[in-house]
Amino acid sequence: MEGPGTGTSERLILGLETSCDETAAALITDDGEIRSNVVSSQADLHARYGGVVPEVASRRHLELVTPVIREALGEARAELTDVERIAVTRGPGLIGALLVGLSAAKALAWALRLPLAPVDHLHGHVASLFLEPAAKRPVRVSGPGEGVRGNREVPPELPLAPPFLCLLASGGHTLLLDVQDHAGFDVLGTTLDDAAGEAFDKGARLLGLGYPGGAEIDRLAREGDPESFEFPVARVPGLDFSFSGLKTALLYKVRELGDEQVERRRADLAASYQRAIVRALVERTTAAAELTGAEQVAVVGGVAANSELRASLPGAALAPLELCTDNAAMIASASRFVQEIPFARYLAVDAYASTAA
Ligand code: KG4
Ligand code: ZN
Repeated sequence: MEGPGTGTSERLILGLETSCDETAAALITDDGEIRSNVVSSQADLHARYGGVVPEVASRRHLELVTPVIREALGEARAELTDVERIAVTRGPGLIGALLVGLSAAKALAWALRLPLAPVDHLHGHVASLFLEPAAKRPVRVSGPGEGVRGNREVPPELPLAPPFLCLLASGGHTLLLDVQDHAGFDVLGTTLDDAAGEAFDKGARLLGLGYPGGAEIDRLAREGDPESFEFPVARVPGLDFSFSGLKTALLYKVRELGDEQVERRRADLAASYQRAIVRALVERTTAAAELTGAEQVAVVGGVAANSELRASLPGAALAPLELCTDNAAMIASASRFVQEIPFARYLAVDAYASTAA
């Protein structure tokens, strides 16, 4: 990985993300252009357990972190000497997994005498909207002045500028965020029990689908009738969410139907279950937009990849598909808006497992 910075004259930010079961490294410019974005998913490794096994994840991160960084540098045609800052996820996440990324980041930053920017994972998800879309990404059609204000049917161009209301729906979180600037956000609502992604994953397990289940349910739901089963949308006060009742309703339905019927009606079950989750997300997001008077709505996080959710919020800014699930480009992106720690003062920085706020 060493050698003169021959490949590129640009100064780059190296981002690292190891908070769960994806080992990821990315290089972006200070303007938010992605030069490389490598994600090595451990999903197959955890599939047999039906969920992420923390100790297994940490060990795998340890094996993957260096090759993934090498690959990110190679793809960007860059050398370590082209890097001007290291950005890394500090939390929330699995503590052992986070420590692998944080230690690698500290070691690299220290060896290269670079500053380190510790990034909050949730801020990272929001910052997936602050990246320049790659030239190859399809250009969204919108006229001048449309999108951000006024015509809510036209999605705005990315990168998105605050203020906006953001739905962050992932495997670990379901949050409604008031994003007033690039540096942070205020939490307006959260889940009282399971996260939306967790509801997808647990539902998939009940339906005998693979892990992680969100994408599997999304795929299967396209072949099913979303009106065939009635699943409850929990109504909790305020702007919070609740998904545990829905999961229990599916469990009872699966028991009631029996193996043979479940097998036959799996697509209908998936479509109806997905409809209930999406409905809950859309209802609460719309209520929050009305309550706060937000003119722009955005959706980020792994569940933002869901095709029904994307279609249900036509005027919303959607994180690009490849930036919905965990990646390091979003972490590097967020690092542009946090205070970096100068060389050598970061060696005592610790990871945190749950939300800091
Ligand atoms: O953001 P993410 O990669 O990790 C966390 O920070 O948690 O989100 C992962 C979650 C998983 O629960 C996965 O099932 C869900 O995102 N997911 C989806 C889809 N793709 C991933 N959920 C619904 N539909 C999808 N297409
Ligand atoms: Zn995430």
